[in-house]
Amino acid sequence: MSDNYIYSAEKVIDDLSRKPGFVDTAIKRWEKRDPKCGFGYKGICCRLCSNGPCRITPTQPVGICGATADTIVARNLLRAIAAGTSCYIHHCRNAANTLLSAAEGKSSYTIKDEEKLKRYAQKIGINTNKDVKRIAYEFATKVLNDLSKPYTEKSELVYKLSLPARVSTWEKLNILPGGVNEEIIAALTKTSTNLNSDPVDMALHCLRLGIITGIYGLELTCIMQDILLGSPKITATHSNFGVIDQGYINLATIGGHQQVVSNRILELASNKEWVKKAQEAGAKGFKIYGVTCVGQDYEMRCASDKNSAFGGYVGNNFTQEYILGTGAIDLVFSEFNCTLPGIEPICKEYLVKQICLDDVAKKVGADLYQFQPEKADEYAAITLNEAIKAYKNRRGKVKIDVPAEKTPAMTGFTEDSIKGALGGSWKPLIDLIVKGDIKGVAGVVGCSNMAAKGHGIYGVELTKELIKRDILVLGSGCVGGNLENAGLYGLGSIELAGPKLKEVCRKLNIPPVLNIGPCLSIGRIHIIAEEIAEVLKVDVPQIPVVASAPQWLEEQALADGTFGVVLGLDLLLGTPPFVTGSNLITELLTSKLKDMVGARFIIEADPILGADAMESSIMERRKLLNI
Ligand code: SF4
Ligand code: FE2
Repeated sequence: MSDNYIYSAEKVIDDLSRKPGFVDTAIKRWEKRDPKCGFGYKGICCRLCSNGPCRITPTQPVGICGATADTIVARNLLRAIAAGTSCYIHHCRNAANTLLSAAEGKSSYTIKDEEKLKRYAQKIGINTNKDVKRIAYEFATKVLNDLSKPYTEKSELVYKLSLPARVSTWEKLNILPGGVNEEIIAALTKTSTNLNSDPVDMALHCLRLGIITGIYGLELTCIMQDILLGSPKITATHSNFGVIDQGYINLATIGGHQQVVSNRILELASNKEWVKKAQEAGAKGFKIYGVTCVGQDYEMRCASDKNSAFGGYVGNNFTQEYILGTGAIDLVFSEFNCTLPGIEPICKEYLVKQICLDDVAKKVGADLYQFQPEKADEYAAITLNEAIKAYKNRRGKVKIDVPAEKTPAMTGFTEDSIKGALGGSWKPLIDLIVKGDIKGVAGVVGCSNMAAKGHGIYGVELTKELIKRDILVLGSGCVGGNLENAGLYGLGSIELAGPKLKEVCRKLNIPPVLNIGPCLSIGRIHIIAEEIAEVLKVDVPQIPVVASAPQWLEEQALADGTFGVVLGLDLLLGTPPFVTGSNLITELLTSKLKDMVGARFIIEADPILGADAMESSIMERRKLLNI
């Protein structure tokens, strides 16, 4: 394949879907599915009590209890966002506990990025004139304390990690969050049967959870993982099914998040002692392939390391069934979201061993080893031994047929590595924006789904359209997996950019779509947006940076999407978040929020019109800056 070839979608997935006898997959099931439930789609179905389920219709405009469409929609939305925030906080807590274990010397995790630890420790008010382990201890403790504060006490780190202008907007709206865990409990409590019925109060609670998701679930978790796992470096790599090498004992990580949880498996698989064990079993060593966000995170951190057992990023959440269906994977491990139950029969058929590292993602057929930082090495060793057993058991018995497609990509773009490549400050990027060589910056982030035009299609079409208009794109998450396997993270995509952006990318030797990694890296967009706003001495809603979760899939995406808007970035969704049954909530999200927090949700089913809306937002913001 030529390096300049860019697909309009994921060709390998399309080809495998058409292959006779290939395993059943979510993409295939989607095509056979009955029409969606119209009431659920609009958010006007309630089953909170045994008098229901109630559905709102023109002749029955309220539930049996009297709940209006506005109440039911707000209640459903807040419940979904609370669940999404809870997932992010689970990850944040595990990362903080791991940092604590490293600080106390109780696990094999170490501090790999001391500079970052010290920089952020200073930012959150820790004196850094002391031993690095003591700094790490205080850092982790501060995070854990904020998680367990009472509802009535404001979360300290939101103030320390946000622009003062944002904090004052949030203060005026009374959406500065209290203790993190209790905010989630309060959201679940107020949305239970016949408690809160005020849609506006519940919508404001959604915004509070958005802030929690952004600061703790995204930014702080990202920072703690950089400290523990090492910060990414910009490097060239390849993705797609062709990275799989049958000569190795092959493991696939299919978890959506919680990179820190499985990292010791990667570390052990890379060391000589374990490579020798794999060789004794007849393989060249171990390879761990990335599927979904953990894979993107590994790609960011390991693609530049020749000694790493990381084998490459294969694809996103909806490619996991396809990867297992190639027969090339001996063991699959998971620890969080985006682990489809659809893999279970495939693992059975293909004799793939399943290991689960956190019971929040326990799968049928998987052995569970509940994550504790102190036990991470013990569980990593069990996992690798199980992989050896599976390799010996299944090779020769199952048919292996792996597509050869390899897609060139760049990886490792972060707030620090981009700034580093620009010479240490945002000024060169700001100059390019002021000059108009780059019209603005757009995040294309979050999940992939089939609901918006099919697997990955909306995200790829939107991104091509944005770069054509000289808008630099930051891609992350599973939609980023689509962009990567379609070729947009490679230098070949420069040819698709508008004339001015093309010149910039040629000069800097970067693609117009920068791979910032997993969903979690939305936290990096927060840092970039706030740092640029800080240099320009303006608030975030005034800078020409916008975002999109074009193919949002799950509750976590609703939580991080809400953060994007509360942060001040207009945010495009390709499908509505189950709110259109309430005019009040729809209007609040798509219009009134602009007056409240300076940004709004944009819901647009067509990617070209979506790009129009994002471009208009960028142009409005340029006007605010008089450029
Ligand atoms: Fe119906 Fe009200 Fe019960 Fe919901 S809580 S199911 S709207 S009666
Ligand atoms: Fe993700």
